[in-house]
Amino acid sequence: MKLRVFDSAAELFQAAAEEFASRAARAVRERGRFCVALSGGSTPRGLFNLLAGGAFPIPWNETSLFWGDERHVPPDSPESNYRMTQETLLSKVSIPANNIFRVPAEAPNAETVAQKYEQTLQAFFGLKLGEIPRFDLTLNGLGPDGHTASLFPGTVALDENVRLVAAPWVEKFKSYRITLTFPVFNHAACVLFLVTGKEKAPALRAIYAGNQSDYPAGRIRLGNGDLLWFADRAAADGLRSSA
Ligand code: 6PG
Repeated sequence: MKLRVFDSAAELFQAAAEEFASRAARAVRERGRFCVALSGGSTPRGLFNLLAGGAFPIPWNETSLFWGDERHVPPDSPESNYRMTQETLLSKVSIPANNIFRVPAEAPNAETVAQKYEQTLQAFFGLKLGEIPRFDLTLNGLGPDGHTASLFPGTVALDENVRLVAAPWVEKFKSYRITLTFPVFNHAACVLFLVTGKEKAPALRAIYAGNQSDYPAGRIRLGNGDLLWFADRAAADGLRSSA
């Protein structure tokens, strides 16, 4: 786990945009395409605004976007991660519509949504049964309870070791979520956590100390890739950069 601590969220997003752009350039150079799973919530807005500004050279024609998780709502819902991304990024950059693979979360049955999204991943990556997709980059957030994507403490999705996409019931929201599973994140070439705000400090400290059992985000351990944590001073709360 490589931790970089930034004096401000603005500096963190600048560094994240540079990381996004350099990994995009390398992936397209080496494999002709850049495959990314985006995070939801509020934190990535800062990065998406920067990328939308055009200051970073992103090969949008060769970039394919997926989501690490989605709320069980239609794409026009204020809760939709897709909608947040559409408003802050997709509507402002020239990415082909065919390169955008949103979670079809408007369907009434969350389990069916998860199966459909798994099929989309299998088709896009040309996977055989049992194979796991390798994203060039996944963006991940951290909840105060230590969740990432929609891998929440105490949910069945934590124990999913075969399926690529799960649809756990999340009691605290009284709602289903659709989420990529640990095997997918742990198979990525890079997982980049973006963490801002003091409410995240206890979870980040525990994860940094190696706590995997109570904090699901601590179970993101890549087999063959870069695990990067970008945190602002408030979230790092005295932790020092290790990278
Ligand atoms: C979601 C996210 C979730 C998020 C964390 C942090 O759908 O909500 O994917 O995992 O990353 O909850 O959320 P904030 O960035 O809003 O603090």
